[in-house]
Amino acid sequence: MKFYITTPIYYVNDIPHIGHAYTTIAADVLARWKRLNNYDVFFLTGTDEHGAKIAKAAKEKGVLPQDLCSQMSTKFKEAWQLLNISYTDFIRTTQKRHFEAVGKMVQTLSDKGLIFKKKYEGLYCVGCERFYALKDLDENGCCLLHKTKPVLQAEENYFFKLSTFSDELLKRITDPTHKEHIQIQPEERRNEIIGKLKLGLEDISISRTAIEWGIPLPYDKSQTVYVWVDALINYLTGIGFPNEEFKKYWPADVHLMAKDILWFHSVIWPAILMGADLELPKKIYSHGFFTLNGNKMSKSLGNVISPEELVNKYGVDSTRYLTVTLIPFGPDGDISWEGLTLKYNTDLANNLGNLVSRTLKMAEKNFDNIVPQTEPNLCLAKQINDILKENFIYNMENIQLHKASENIQSAITFVNKQIEQDAPWELAKIDKDKLASCIYSYLQAIDIIAMYLLCFMPEIAQKIWLSTGASGNIEEIAKKYFADFNIPDDGFSVISSKLANPRMLFPRIS
Ligand code: MSP
Repeated sequence: MKFYITTPIYYVNDIPHIGHAYTTIAADVLARWKRLNNYDVFFLTGTDEHGAKIAKAAKEKGVLPQDLCSQMSTKFKEAWQLLNISYTDFIRTTQKRHFEAVGKMVQTLSDKGLIFKKKYEGLYCVGCERFYALKDLDENGCCLLHKTKPVLQAEENYFFKLSTFSDELLKRITDPTHKEHIQIQPEERRNEIIGKLKLGLEDISISRTAIEWGIPLPYDKSQTVYVWVDALINYLTGIGFPNEEFKKYWPADVHLMAKDILWFHSVIWPAILMGADLELPKKIYSHGFFTLNGNKMSKSLGNVISPEELVNKYGVDSTRYLTVTLIPFGPDGDISWEGLTLKYNTDLANNLGNLVSRTLKMAEKNFDNIVPQTEPNLCLAKQINDILKENFIYNMENIQLHKASENIQSAITFVNKQIEQDAPWELAKIDKDKLASCIYSYLQAIDIIAMYLLCFMPEIAQKIWLSTGASGNIEEIAKKYFADFNIPDDGFSVISSKLANPRMLFPRIS
């Protein structure tokens, strides 16, 4: 089975920051999860490189737009490499393959009679790359997001008959039994979209004469394709469109993004696809926006956090874990360095780190640093299995990453409590056999926890797996485990094999 997941393609006028990282890590966690479930995963990310905004940024910097794009898209690639993002492909909208895909799509819509020419005058916000009606602006006539006045643009443009799709789109969004149902989540955002759709749709301009930095229209080279139409088509280009091969992965299983661009993805994009007789994405998931200490992150406020800063403080895997689990996935939320550090110390240093290090230390002290000889005791592993499997799967499938991580934390707490109850430090004095059995059971439970951690913290999970004397490649074993949740009779950590205490997995941070 295939699974196709995408992130938005990011504008190259900005450096990668924790907001972009949020969506990208989340997509990576889901992609890894599906791979562990034996899906053939295609995970697409990339950069959005055309339009007035990019042309303006290049002009201000005194560089050519193409040079700015190359420079900045490299920065995004570097950030994703740093964060161990396992994307299948990184698309840039200035690539030749994308020009071909956009040309083909626009030509198809035109051939189907869905594009017409019209004189248009409207208020255009370059920051949003879209026209606004007066009613959508604040009392000073400024864009709500950018707080700047949109500029009046009057042109003769090509328009797409968006209005013809209102009813059909509404049906596909609201009727879960529709064969081409499109699921928009979370619920509140879906309702907002439905509310707006019920008011009807207006046709939209899909080309510009004044903007040279874009893809020329195939049938009128004096105009370029509107940057949002150009950008959305990346989801097809990335998997090979217009060649037939794109059908291997299309339709997308999940388009992930924040609420700022949900309208484009849940209305304009599906309408374009319907116009071209293509299937619609199955799910569109919009997570919240996060603020930093109550403020919007912005260059002008100077409070933008880069992925690098986080990695320098917490390490790669902890950054991945903290970023996607600090606030509930869906609503807006506020983050702070204090909050991140508190969660790091609570979940990682005190709970997980402590479990691994105390278990290995006991084995080192009492059993010469090997998995002790004992009757396989899988009681605890089975309990952990029961605590985790259904809840974790449910939360991952519903993209509730913070809840899935809470499930893992509950399992870790459960084992830590069991250790307190067993008091192995007492057993060491009176009953070595019982101690051996207990430590064996902790090691098996840790192995299971490591498999659940894999998609959030791939390197740490691997390190833990190697330290507990577990045999085989963790990913291969996890794939088998997630197929039937069966624990082998002799567990995962093999009796007599060497343990390796990784020591400070999570040094406490103040
Ligand atoms: N280029 C368009 C997207 C085209 S997709 C066909 C664009 N780019 S963007 O660089 O502005 O990225 C917006 C996305 O970045 C958001 O939808 C979200 O995924 C992510 N985020 C940027 N800042 C964020 C926060 N402060 N909080 C959460 N997500 C954030 O829009």
